[in-house]
Formats: sequence, C-alpha cells, structure tokens
Amino acid sequence: MRFFVLSALASLAWASSDYSGPLRPQVRFSPPHGFMNDPNGLFLDPKGIYHLYYQYNPTGLVAGNQHWGHATSRDLYHWTNQRIAISPDNSDEAIFSGSAVVDSENTSGFFPDQDDGVVAIYTLDTPEAETQHIAYSRDGGYSFTKYASNPVIDSNSTDFRDPQVVWHPETQKWVMAVAYAKDLVIGFYTSPNLKDWTHASNFSQKGLPGDQFECPNMVKFSVDEIDEEKHVLFISINPGAPLGGSTTMYLVGHFNGTHFTAEDPFKLADFSKDNYAAQWYSNIPEDQDPISIAWASNWQYTEEVPTGQLEGYRGSNSLPRVNTLQKVDGTWTVTSAPYDGLSTVKGPLISRQSTRNGDIAVDFSKVDSNAISFDVEVSGIFGPQATGEVIFNFTSSTGEDFLDGGIHLDSGEFWINRAGTHGFTTADNKAFTPSFNTTIPSFANGRFSYSGVIDRSLLEIFLNGGEQSATTSFFPNSPLDVLTVSARSLGKGTTVKVNAWGLESGWNS
Ligand SMILES: *[C@@H]1O[C@H](CO)[C@@H](O)[C@H](O)[C@H]1NC(C)=O
Ligand SMILES: *[C@@H]1O[C@H](CO)[C@@H](O)[C@H](O)[C@H]1NC(C)=O
Ligand SMILES: *[C@@H]1O[C@H](CO)[C@@H](O)[C@H](O)[C@H]1NC(C)=O
Ligand SMILES: *[C@@H]1O[C@H](CO)[C@@H](O)[C@H](O)[C@H]1NC(C)=O
Ligand SMILES: *[C@@H]1O[C@H](CO)[C@@H](O)[C@H](O)[C@H]1NC(C)=O
Ligand SMILES: *[C@@H]1O[C@H](CO)[C@@H](O)[C@H](O)[C@H]1NC(C)=O
Repeated sequence: MRFFVLSALASLAWASSDYSGPLRPQVRFSPPHGFMNDPNGLFLDPKGIYHLYYQYNPTGLVAGNQHWGHATSRDLYHWTNQRIAISPDNSDEAIFSGSAVVDSENTSGFFPDQDDGVVAIYTLDTPEAETQHIAYSRDGGYSFTKYASNPVIDSNSTDFRDPQVVWHPETQKWVMAVAYAKDLVIGFYTSPNLKDWTHASNFSQKGLPGDQFECPNMVKFSVDEIDEEKHVLFISINPGAPLGGSTTMYLVGHFNGTHFTAEDPFKLADFSKDNYAAQWYSNIPEDQDPISIAWASNWQYTEEVPTGQLEGYRGSNSLPRVNTLQKVDGTWTVTSAPYDGLSTVKGPLISRQSTRNGDIAVDFSKVDSNAISFDVEVSGIFGPQATGEVIFNFTSSTGEDFLDGGIHLDSGEFWINRAGTHGFTTADNKAFTPSFNTTIPSFANGRFSYSGVIDRSLLEIFLNGGEQSATTSFFPNSPLDVLTVSARSLGKGTTVKVNAWGLESGWNS
C-alpha cells in the first residue's frame, strides 16, 4: 500500500495539485501533495510578496527526504505553489528547518548589484552530524545556490538544528538562535556577514517542559503600554509537550545583543495540541506587529492522519497570525489573531443574531469553501456567581459527525472536544487526545468573547481577542456545515451575540 502510494506520488508533476478534497483547508496553506511539517524561511520580499518555505517530503506521506518546498502570497491567504527551493544533494542528507533573510546591504557579499538578495540559513542533517548551512538567492527567493564553504557552523553534534536569524540593529550584527535539541539549550551566535559566526551565549533554564527543543524564534515586540521593546523567545518542544508530543512555548524577556534573559515564567502558546514550529516573518516593516505561521499538527499522529490515504497529502499550516505583547491578568502574554482580520477571504455575513437563553443556528452548507469565521460575545456576566454555559456545536447535515466546545461561566472553563469527528479518533491513535480545556481567570467588565475559524479539518479558536488560543485538527467523515450556539442557564442580564461570515477559498484563483 505504502509502496503504491509513493510511486504514484513520485510520478506527479511538482505543480499538480487538487485542493478540492473534503478535508483540505481552504484558507490555510497545505502542500500540493506529499508530507509537510515546519514552516521555514518566512520572509516578506521588497515587492510585497510573502514567501513561505516548508519542510517537505515530495515523494511520501510521512516525514523523510526533507526538502524546502516553496509557496508565495500577497496576503497570506491566497497561495501560489512554486518549485521546490532547496533539495538535498544525495539520499544521505536532508535539508532541515531554518530561516531566510533579505540581505539588502550585501553584508554577505553574495549580491554585487542588487539590494533584494535572499540568504537561507538551514540545518543540513546527515547520519554523522547536524550543521548549519547557508544558500543564497539572486532571484528573490525562487532559486538558491548553496554556499561553497558550508557548513558555516559545525558543533560536532547530531542534535544541533533549526537556525533562526534576525538583524540586530543596535550591534549591527546578524543574530542566530539555534537549538542544541537534546541538551535543552538555545545557542545564540552573531555574525557580521552571515558566513562567519561567533558563539555568543547559551540559554537554558531549569523547569522548562520538553525532552527536546527545536525551532527557536527570537522575536522583538514593541509594547505601546510601556513604550519599550521586549524580546520573546519561542521554543518548540518535541517530544515532551505537557499535553503529549509537540507544542510551542515562549519566554518573555530581553536580548542585549549577546544574551537572552527571561523575565517571566514560560507560557504555552496554545491550549490544544496542533500548534508546532511556529515561525515569524522577517523583513516586515518596523512599525508592523509580528506575523507568525505554525504547523497545525502533532508528531504523535501526523504521519497517520487520513488526509494521506484519502487526499494524497499530510500537513497543514495554522492561519497566519498577527501577534502583540500585552499584560493579561498581571503577566506578559503574546496575543494572536488572524492576520488582517481575514479581510481578503472574508465573504458575506451569513448570520447576526442574539439571545438570552436559547439556540442560534447558522447553516453554512451553501458556503462553497465549507469554511467560516465566527464570533460569540457574552456580556452582562455579573452577580456573585456567574452561571450557565455558552456552547458551540458544529454538526453535519449529511452525517453523524460533530465538534463541540464552549464556556462554563461558573468555573471559567473553556473546552473543545473533537471526539465526535469519526474519521480519525483515539481508536486509530490513542494520542489523538479528544478534548482540551483552559481556564478564564475572570470576566473583565462582565464580558467574555471567543472567535474561531473552521476550515474543513482545522479549527482555531481565539479567546478574549486572542489572549489564549487553540489549534485543533479533526477529521470528520461528513463535512461539518451547521453551527449551533446554545446559551443555557445564563444569569439575569447576560446576553449572547453571534456573528458568522462565509469565507472564500484561497485556492480558487
Ligand atoms: C557586494 O559584495 C561583494 C563582495 O564583497 C562586492 O564585490 C560588491 O561590490 C558588493 N556590492 C555592493 C553593491 O556593495
Ligand atoms: C565529536 O564528537 C564525537 C562524539 O561525541 C567525539 O568522539 C569526538 O572526539 C568529537 N570531535 C571533536 C573534534 O570534538
Ligand atoms: C553551549 O551549549 C552546548 C550544548 O549543551 C554545548 O555543547 C556548548 O559547549 C555550550 N557552549 C558554551 C560556550 O558553553
Ligand atoms: C548582556 O548580558 C550579559 C549577561 O547578563 C552580560 O554579561 C553582558 O555584559 C551584557 N552585554 C551588554 C552589551 O550589556
Ligand atoms: C453537539 O451535537 C451532537 C450531535 O447532535 C450531540 O451529540 C452533542 O451532545 C452536542 N454537544 C453539546 C455540547 O450539546
Ligand atoms: C482539562 O484538561 C486537563 C489536561 O490539560 C485534564 O487533566 C483535565 O481533566 C481537563 N478537565 C476537564 C474538566 O475536562
């Protein structure tokens, strides 16, 4: 079976793709066919085109044979698949994760007559070692030449990977964060030219979760509240995530050019299980908030999910998200929301309703993409003891599948449950955890809101404007096409408003 699938895939042309399958996300990126994991090399080019590279096995439905796949977009929702950007030279090596920068000042010397040269920095994995390599592109990121004097960093280790490079204006140097995966250490290196790197410091901290660290990203945030810059160090963990498998955590602190110092305890980026290897765009304008994309799966089950057998691909990305750093209940928190409010794919409003206690039904079986965005706003949550619940339930007009969740106002518990989608369950893989929850500590001003984007086999939920978020994959046997929001046993004066919009597919044009 596996052999058959592999040879069938290998005969497909690189660009052939069919995004019409009932599990295929329509407003999120997934590869044309084959297996995808981490986003790599995210950068915005000077023409305003967002580039996305990704860990890609073009000839199989499980990890292995790693290349850098490539796609481009003007708005992060409509994607064009491009030719594979970086390939291994032989079957013993693999092109692992990394980042890309625009070397507009020609610091590298690779770009004699241009200010839009791109340098990719990635890990070359071989049975003997993991070393850091660079490759340069003189055509804006579409084709790359490997640097003749690679590797640029060799630490004599088989577990040393995922370089992320940013420009540090204060010291006029490039800074690399890279994972000594099994040592649970993030190394920082600096360089004037992307070729010669000097070890600057090691960051580690007792008590962090995880058996291995991967994909560090150090991201600068401007915080309006305190008119100050802070740095957030995101670290992906696999295995050893608190909920099992893989996830992303972060530490808020300060980077001084050589050392990162954490100022707060770590936080998880997500309260569900499908958010890994998040990466942040480089080269976006200084006055714009950071933008991220994560891989929306989990290593515990990603190689078994049914999109492989049914639709010839595995792996999808999260929505593109815009992030801010804010104090929430006294601690620094990275908030996230869909980039640009989904404006380029947001279709007509299909529902605007409110209720005190009762059901609001939104039938979206006529929305071609089978994807919608929705928000639920609860107000007037007052009194000594908040009561009741506000549930969402996605059901299928043609089958038995459902995906439900919501808020218990008395305990402040918000939950999501995917046990009702029957195409893949704990019976197929016991790590496919059925339900997730988090707690809302308080309802400021008597309000609580949640919003979400459901897209055939992915749901992302944002609580209170993105103070907490969850990314949940699910695999129904029949499309989910009806949303019911139910307000039950609410206290006097509490009301619920629901808005829902159809989304247009990013793959139509
Ligand atoms: C870019 O760097 C190379 C090598 O240092 C140099 O030959 C070339 O003149 C530089 N070009 C510009 C425009 O600075
Ligand atoms: C590289 O690592 C191996 C295995 O840990 C060790 O035996 C060897 O001495 C190291 N080589 C160098 C040059 O440090
Ligand atoms: C940094 O950490 C790595 C991984 O533990 C270790 O091999 C290396 O020696 C450390 N470097 C320094 C300068 O301490
Ligand atoms: C950066 O922080 C480290 C560790 O606290 C310190 O040793 C170093 O002197 C600092 N560098 C600068 C430029 O402040
Ligand atoms: C959601 O709908 C399904 C199918 O009708 C039902 O079994 C489930 O109990 C509902 N969930 C909630 C929380 O009401
Ligand atoms: C909430 O999730 C935790 C795991 O994070 C689990 O231990 C707990 O049982 C869940 N609570 C409920 C009420 O489902």
